[in-house]
Amino acid sequence: SPVDWRGKRVVITAGGTREPIDPVRFIANRSSGRMGFALAAAAAACGADVRLICGPNALDTPPGVTRIDVETALQMAEAVSAIESMDVFIGAAAVADYRVAEIAPQKMKKDPAQPGLTLHLVPNPDIIATVARRANRPFVVGFAAETEQLLRHAAEKRIAKGMDLICANEVGDGRAFDQPDNALTLIWSDGSQQLPLAPKATLATEIVAIIDELMRR
Ligand code: PMT
Repeated sequence: SPVDWRGKRVVITAGGTREPIDPVRFIANRSSGRMGFALAAAAAACGADVRLICGPNALDTPPGVTRIDVETALQMAEAVSAIESMDVFIGAAAVADYRVAEIAPQKMKKDPAQPGLTLHLVPNPDIIATVARRANRPFVVGFAAETEQLLRHAAEKRIAKGMDLICANEVGDGRAFDQPDNALTLIWSDGSQQLPLAPKATLATEIVAIIDELMRR
């Protein structure tokens, strides 16, 4: 039977964050936002009230979805913490683990006398781990983008961050990031399921169905 998420509040992060270096430069990653946007569309199609918090991207907002645009990991964390109640949280964003400690107020100049340049980075807060520690926690779904030892790293990440479900995503060599298709292995406390290469919209519908099943147990 089709998933009925009417009355459910779903919060999804999507895309990559940008961490400024100076007024014209930033540190970023290859996430396009497509996976998170596909999940937002799938959840909205099931009747959910969907808030999509996204880093800079070139995508259209799916119908019926409330979109909140942010740039940095700190802004994404702030936008998530402002949402008091949610039933499901899905972290599909590629959030920068670090930001530049002190953003230069003016464009940094090239100094020919210096052999190189060192940027000092400090850690960003972990958005999904913070959600998983809430007193009234939602069902928490995360992703793990890994270039090696995919299943081991994903299983460890699920537990370390307190997720109910993790979608293990092999990346590198042109896979997943900014692609129309993806392949995932979903891992939860007592089971797993492989979702072979398919359009992100198809995977999103399958992920929503699996979340719905796990939440009913
Ligand atoms: O956007 P696309 O081009 O469609 O590509 C999709 C994707 C590959 C980006 C996506 O499927 C994916 O794998 N997203 C997670 C990418 C990632 O960098 O994961 P991670 O291993 O760094 O983080 C693990 C989990 O913690 C993720 O759910 C992430 O959103 C979350 N996290 C990470 C750091 C942080 N500071 N806060 C977080 O919430």
